[in-house]
Amino acid sequence: MAVDANIVLLPGDGIGPEIIEQGQLVLEAVAKRFGHSFQFTSCPMGGNAIDSHGTPLPDETLAACRNADAILLGAVGGPKWDDPNAKTRPEAGLLSLRKELKLFANLRPIKPYKQLIDASPLKREIIEGTDILFLRELTGGIYFGDSGVKPHASGEEAYSMMVYNTEEVARIVRLAAKAAQLRSGRVTSVDKANVLEVSRLWRRVAAQVMADEFPDIEYDVVLVDAMAMHLISRPRDFDVVVTGNMFGDILTDEGSMLPGSLGMLPSASLGESGPGLYEPIHGSAPDIAGKGIANPLATILAAAMALHHSLGLTEEAAVIDAAVEAVLDAGHRTADIAAGGNSLSTEQMGAAVLEVLG
Ligand code: NAI
Ligand code: MG
Repeated sequence: MAVDANIVLLPGDGIGPEIIEQGQLVLEAVAKRFGHSFQFTSCPMGGNAIDSHGTPLPDETLAACRNADAILLGAVGGPKWDDPNAKTRPEAGLLSLRKELKLFANLRPIKPYKQLIDASPLKREIIEGTDILFLRELTGGIYFGDSGVKPHASGEEAYSMMVYNTEEVARIVRLAAKAAQLRSGRVTSVDKANVLEVSRLWRRVAAQVMADEFPDIEYDVVLVDAMAMHLISRPRDFDVVVTGNMFGDILTDEGSMLPGSLGMLPSASLGESGPGLYEPIHGSAPDIAGKGIANPLATILAAAMALHHSLGLTEEAAVIDAAVEAVLDAGHRTADIAAGGNSLSTEQMGAAVLEVLG
């Protein structure tokens, strides 16, 4: 069935516009091949929006995002906006966007490409065959709990509270279980229930949701400190991993080292309803911005996640994933994954993907 979709592009700063251009070309090629119609609207966000509108998330950008079927973001930030005395920062735009759209689930697939396995600092026999989908809770927990700082006899005292309620835990565990239904059927929940009361609630709610709603999904729990170890000693043993905001922040950065290059990793942030936000996990790479050498594949893979999760176009998403595999098989490499050999420009890599897509 032909799909009509309204896709908002937030190119952002640094290499953002360069990689988003390739993401858009790939989406256009898929629309053409499958008979869909995608309308694109490009909006200012981040540092460029601070320059043009005095705010990192202009009202018009937020309004366009609310009305979108999916949002594809490049990256925001850069030295130009790093002044510690500045009123606002590019990242503030991203945080408000996630909050406004209630994007409580951050999905990060960690799947080292067999063609690039030597890019990882870890041993081949450890990472080969790894295919993990992380679900990190994104709008609750210690990053959003009550916090404060007050005088103390020794100087000062500060606190940040980790708070989760039943609904916040249930909805992310539910998403994890649904994702597992489409994969190998296993969910691992990560917490610190031996110490933290909030983790004991997390564990009770997760167990309840899994038992009541997903009796066929294999389910287990791992303590976060142990998980940090397992992730680099036996990553193959995990399928879907669900955890809270801070544990997820740390574990996904650790996990990003399995595939080796930042330039290959996409992510999705989803809410209960409304558009999802799709982006590469890397930043705006100011060191290579404007040189035309950034790897566009993470953004292209993020575009595939948008088709899958926001538009229900699973076949089209799989076709993009397969095209990325094909260009890697053909030996195409941008500088970040070239290991010293010949390398393609951003546009050449995008063109290689387009050629496979036909
Ligand atoms: P970064 O991810 O931008 O760059 C780290 C290193 O990886 C750099 O050497 C860069 O050249 C390289 N790199 C990143 N993406 C690449 C790609 N697609 N192809 C080839 N090489 C790539 O992280 P960094 O340097 O810590 O931050 C730069 C700026 O980006 C900062 O202002 C930071 O706040 C912002 N940032 C924004 C994010 C976002 O918008 N979601 C996420 C992370 C950082
Ligand atoms: Mg982080």
